[in-house]
Parts: sequence; structure tokens; C-alpha cells
Amino acid sequence: MTSEAEPLTLVLVGPMAAGKTSVGRRVARRLRVAFIDTDKRIVAEHGPIPEIFAAHGEEHFRALERAAVAAALEEGGVISLGGGAVTDAGTRELLRAHPVVFLTVSPESVAGRIRGGGRPLLAGEVDPVERWKAIFAERRDWYDEVASTTFDTSRLPMQRIAEDIVTWRREHR
Ligand code: S3P
Repeated sequence: MTSEAEPLTLVLVGPMAAGKTSVGRRVARRLRVAFIDTDKRIVAEHGPIPEIFAAHGEEHFRALERAAVAAALEEGGVISLGGGAVTDAGTRELLRAHPVVFLTVSPESVAGRIRGGGRPLLAGEVDPVERWKAIFAERRDWYDEVASTTFDTSRLPMQRIAEDIVTWRREHR
């Protein structure tokens, strides 16, 4: 059984724009533990994500991400991962020992959330929602593989979803 002194660690995965950061921040506040966003850690250390992809490629980004996930899990708390973290076998292995919440979202709800730049995988000629759908479909099995539970963020306020996740986490120590 987890001792009270240990932070109540929880990992959030899911496709781009599922609300991992907004929900994660709220869950951490309620659980009174640290919040770590691995994308933000990578940016702070290595610069903007589109530049990492352009200069070194996706494989290099996944290696940086795997290291960021490993460090975050050592620290503990609520940890939000980038949408593609689950594509890396090493990262999936790291998640095996931890409670993982898979956040899903419908394409209809995602449309309003993915405007603007910053996501190299949605850039280009193809409609971003179509790209998003194709990428989510490709990764679906990996999300299911690492997930301990699933919450949908399409309709409810982020606040409410965060509360439901906190309840779930407290029941799954
Ligand atoms: C990615 C998702 C992004 C970021 C990078 C790659 C992906 O994170 O890690 O652009 O492969 O799905 P968000 O899920 O927070 O957008």
C-alpha cells in the first residue's frame, strides 16, 4: 500500500487537445501534489517543439520525451504527457507501474481546440481535424494498452472531469 508521505502519482495520456494540461493542473491542485507537463519540460531544456522536429526529427523528440517521462515519474505528482508519448515502447514500459488516465475527446470538440501553431504533426496541407483523426486512430491501441481508466473530455467542464479523476485516484491507491 502507498504510504501517505508519497505523492499520489497519476499520469495523463491522450490525443492532442484532449485537455491533458488543463485537467492535469486541476487534478494536481486538488490532490495537493506537483504538476509536471513533460512537453513544457522539453521546451524549457531544448527549445520549441516544432524546431526540435525540424532540426532533429521525431525519433529524437521521442527520446527526449522518454527521458522527461522517466524524470517526472521519479519526482511523482500529476504528470501530463504529449499526445505521441505512447508511440514509444520505452515510454510505455515506464508507464506500466503507474496509474494512467486516458483522456478521450471527440473530433467535433477538438476542432475548436487545435487552432494555432505549435503542433508540428498537425501542420501542413491536410485539414488539421482530419490529420488529428488519423493520428488518433493509429495510436488508439497504445492508449488502451497503457490506460488504467478512461475519461471523455468532450462535453463536461474541465473542472468536473478533474473532480471525477481525483475521486477515481483516491479509490485506487
Ligand atoms: C504530439 C503532441 C504534442 C507534442 C508534440 C507531439 C503528438 O503534445 O508532444 O507536438 O505526437 O501527438 P499535446 O498532446 O500536448 O499537443
